[in-house]
Amino acid sequence: MKLLRISRTKSKCGSCGLGGYCTKVRGESASERPKLAIIGEAPGADEDKLGHPFVGAAGHELDVMLAKAGIGRHNVYLLNLINCRPPENDLASPEGQEALEKCRAGFEEEISKLYSLGVRTLVPLGANPTHALGIEGSIHKVRGSVYDVHVAGLQFWAIPTFHPSFIIRGEWAEEPTVINDIEKASNIALNGYTPPEERFELFPTVRDVELRCRDYVKKRKLIAVDTETTALAYYEAEVFVMAFAESGEDALSIPFYSQGFKPYWHNGDLIRVKNAV
Ligand code: URA
Repeated sequence: MKLLRISRTKSKCGSCGLGGYCTKVRGESASERPKLAIIGEAPGADEDKLGHPFVGAAGHELDVMLAKAGIGRHNVYLLNLINCRPPENDLASPEGQEALEKCRAGFEEEISKLYSLGVRTLVPLGANPTHALGIEGSIHKVRGSVYDVHVAGLQFWAIPTFHPSFIIRGEWAEEPTVINDIEKASNIALNGYTPPEERFELFPTVRDVELRCRDYVKKRKLIAVDTETTALAYYEAEVFVMAFAESGEDALSIPFYSQGFKPYWHNGDLIRVKNAV
């Protein structure tokens, strides 16, 4: 079977601490026109030995999750941030960090070539690939959301998810989460994505709260209600924020405290807001 494999001519391999002994592993796909690219960190021992990405234990788990998501490994392009194996598989090692820097131009080159082949959707696996795309924050917070990212000036949709090695380290309960995230990404890759038109009121005035609440009641709207409290026990809990949503795109969030636990409303307004709610 002929594999699509993209070489990185722009990586500064000669000057990298990992250079030389690890030139075999490259990103690849069994499809000539993959729609989705999945980004890992770096090859491990098995990948280094066999010369293909994701062929060790994490790769096996990725295959299982791809299959359960109804996609299959042969339909996606698999690549890594760096093409060489860092010591102890540790990307945070000085050698790993140096490689990350020296391989960045090659990584962008590979992503640009994927763009020219029609790839518009990326799935970064775990924190490092996610941060490499400019998405900040913990992977637990950002996974599953759709981000508008730019690599080498080209626009992609990125849907971060957990790395399969995190799953096989014992986080099996998160396997369905990754499968769902991959399914979502595949859907976007095949059908495109239009970001929802969000009407989220996060810092309302008293009048905003009154008008919205009146509207919910008058039109007998079915709304979802979410409350965040400072504790679980009702006798000590204070409502920190309350939110009402009439759809995934239309929501009102009513803060009762701002940063530093300062009251958001002064007394008269608080009474009006409580009455409205
Ligand atoms: N983990 C990765 O991030 N990439 C591989 O290719 C293998 C394991």
